[in-house]
Amino acid sequence: MIYSEKVMEHFANPLNVGELPDANGVGEVGNAKCGDIMRMYVKVENGVIADARFKTFGCGAAIATSSIATEMIKGKSVDEALALTNKAVVEALDGLPAAKLHCSVLAEQAVKAAVADYYKRQGVDPELFL
Ligand code: FES
Repeated sequence: MIYSEKVMEHFANPLNVGELPDANGVGEVGNAKCGDIMRMYVKVENGVIADARFKTFGCGAAIATSSIATEMIKGKSVDEALALTNKAVVEALDGLPAAKLHCSVLAEQAVKAAVADYYKRQGVDPELFL
């Protein structure tokens, strides 16, 4: 399996790893087939993702996609974060092998789950946005 340099870079030195103690949105998703789990933390301030972190128990591609996904949503509005697609994550990593595309889906779902949790905590039904 050939990984791009970008994937290797984010796997070897992932950005935004760890918990975010003052997060106001936390989402956890998993893939039943491979058993990998991704937990995403966001801190929303004035409708903007002020900070994002992740903890991923999974494969190298899952770590790389989590890393780049947190980078891609930081500084963006909540709506923009919700619009993040796994395709955009794959493009930002200069591609992923076909067998690893589901890892990028996990990253998209983790961001959505964290934002949904943020909405829930605000008393807003996340179904209205997702
Ligand atoms: Fe399942 Fe990567 S192998 S998330």
